Amino acid sequence: MADDRLIIFDTTLRDGEQAPGFSMNTAEKLQLARQLQVLGVDVMEAGFPIASKDDAEAVRLIASEIDGPVIAGLARCNPADIECAAESVKPARRSRIHTFIATSDLHLERKLRISRDECLQSVVDNVKLARSFTDDVEFSAEDATRSDTDFLCRVVETAIDQGATTINLPDTVGYSTADEIEQFFTGIIGRVPNADRAVFSAHCHDDLGLAVANSLAAVRAGCRQIECTINGIGERAGNASLEELVMVTRVRNDRMPYATGIRTTEIYPTSQLLSELTREPVQANKAIVGRNAFAHEAGIHQDGVIKDRRTYEIMRPADVGVAQSTLVLGKHSGRHAVKQRCEQLGFELSRLELDRVYRAMIDLADRQKTVEDTDLAAIVARLQTDRSAGAA
Ligand code: KIV
Ligand code: ZN
Repeated sequence: MADDRLIIFDTTLRDGEQAPGFSMNTAEKLQLARQLQVLGVDVMEAGFPIASKDDAEAVRLIASEIDGPVIAGLARCNPADIECAAESVKPARRSRIHTFIATSDLHLERKLRISRDECLQSVVDNVKLARSFTDDVEFSAEDATRSDTDFLCRVVETAIDQGATTINLPDTVGYSTADEIEQFFTGIIGRVPNADRAVFSAHCHDDLGLAVANSLAAVRAGCRQIECTINGIGERAGNASLEELVMVTRVRNDRMPYATGIRTTEIYPTSQLLSELTREPVQANKAIVGRNAFAHEAGIHQDGVIKDRRTYEIMRPADVGVAQSTLVLGKHSGRHAVKQRCEQLGFELSRLELDRVYRAMIDLADRQKTVEDTDLAAIVARLQTDRSAGAA
């Protein structure tokens, strides 16, 4: 793979699906998996098979039905999890076992109640076991960014020695800043002697709203896989958003000169499908896919967009699968937008008529948030009735 090519590892069906409100049944997961395939993700984490019988079944079904992306199943570093994940991803043409264990002292002491040596031994045993099922093994050091660096380097070196082909170092609680993440990955990749035998990967959570910036910082430091989700869903505040990461590399390729295999025109349909399946609306102002991402209400902005879209839009809506920008009519709108909408609706208005329609529209917008086409048509009709009544 070319050095500038990023592997997009989508974990919507695992980290995303396990977040409150986002669960899906097997049929829904398969429907989303088909769309993720169309979108062009490189790796699809289909679930956490040991979590439940349904999860295992969904992963197995996706592994049987989806052709193209690598299908990954998550497993803790223990034989039961790994055997279950191996069985679930087995039908896939290209399968991956993604095994993880926490490496921070906080997690080792307070959650797992094991020593660093026990953690290291578990990495040896379980990465080796995972490799006995597939050549494609990803190892994640949970809470990596809060782990002791020397210990983490030993863990990473050991995982690679045992055959891990991808090393994922998550910012599990979204605590890091971008400069820290860049230093962190530069340090680990520089210090681990066998680092050249694995692809390094970032998995950033969004607790401080930095997941995308942090993932891009990790790429600058040498990571070539990014773990992300549609609409940025995931544990707590979510994961890095796939659509934002991909569009940064498209729109700002001058600063982030990397390529992905994503068909960007499938971004919006994928986002909408996820929202429909989970019945969770996308935040209106969500970058790229929110309903306001290509909507303009303020008069100055509407005037600019009518004259030249680029005045207030840095990408074409069609590039992400959105049909067109919208000029929302509301109390901040200007005459230009009202005139354009009237023309689109087939009304040719004189200057005076436009003034009246505009004032009536603002009056209405003061009472209701936005003015729809039907409202505008009613205003024009009323004006025409008043005029003919006046003429009679
Ligand atoms: O956030 C995290 O650390 C994870 C790992 C299991 C990869 O989701
Ligand atoms: Zn996570």
